[in-house]
Amino acid sequence: MNDSQITIREFFFANDYEGTITFWRGIEKGMNVGRSDSPEEIQKKLERDPDLFLIAESENQIVGTIIGAFDGRRGIIYHLAVHKNYRGRGIGGQLLAEVEKRLQAKGCLKCLLHVLEGNTEAMEFYKSRGWQRNTDDVVFAKEFFT
Ligand SMILES: CC(C)(COP(=O)(O)OP(=O)(O)OC[C@H]1O[C@@H](n2cnc3c(N)ncnc32)[C@H](O)[C@@H]1OP(=O)(O)O)[C@@H](O)C(=O)NCCC(=O)NCCS
Repeated sequence: MNDSQITIREFFFANDYEGTITFWRGIEKGMNVGRSDSPEEIQKKLERDPDLFLIAESENQIVGTIIGAFDGRRGIIYHLAVHKNYRGRGIGGQLLAEVEKRLQAKGCLKCLLHVLEGNTEAMEFYKSRGWQRNTDDVVFAKEFFT
């Protein structure tokens, strides 16, 4: 385990975009880097809720991320990930708690997130932090501009 100091702060596009993409590409599971992660799409996301995109940093290296969003009714969480060498020391929990706090401050009553089938580690992580699997719901999705 790495014992270096961790800072949690807001994502800043000009400084953090390239490092964040590299970080996401290195995550071995539970993470899809897709067209919503292009520079244009990330900049578009930052036009709303820039305070909900957080990174965890150690010695100027990105070691964790989380993207929250609020549409005025529901919250949603994307791209929670912690570098393999830094897991199990509370960084993921801190990122999640901070985004939950910020969502509540915006008036969010309920928050959703997707976990890829088979990612049991992430499911256990969320369950131990008060999240419940919604067994009644089936998620539908539709791609635009394909
Ligand atoms: C899910 C994830 C973000 C958790 O990050 P983390 O920094 O390890 O989170 P924490 O340290 O706060 O909590 C990890 C839990 O695993 C336990 N743990 C102990 N040692 C661990 C280790 N070496 N590695 C991972 N978890 C460990 C912790 O005690 C903790 O247990 P708890 O939930 O009962 O408190 C991380 O595993 C990850 O990046 N996974 C790959 C990407 C992914 O699946 N993201 C979720 C997308 S839905």
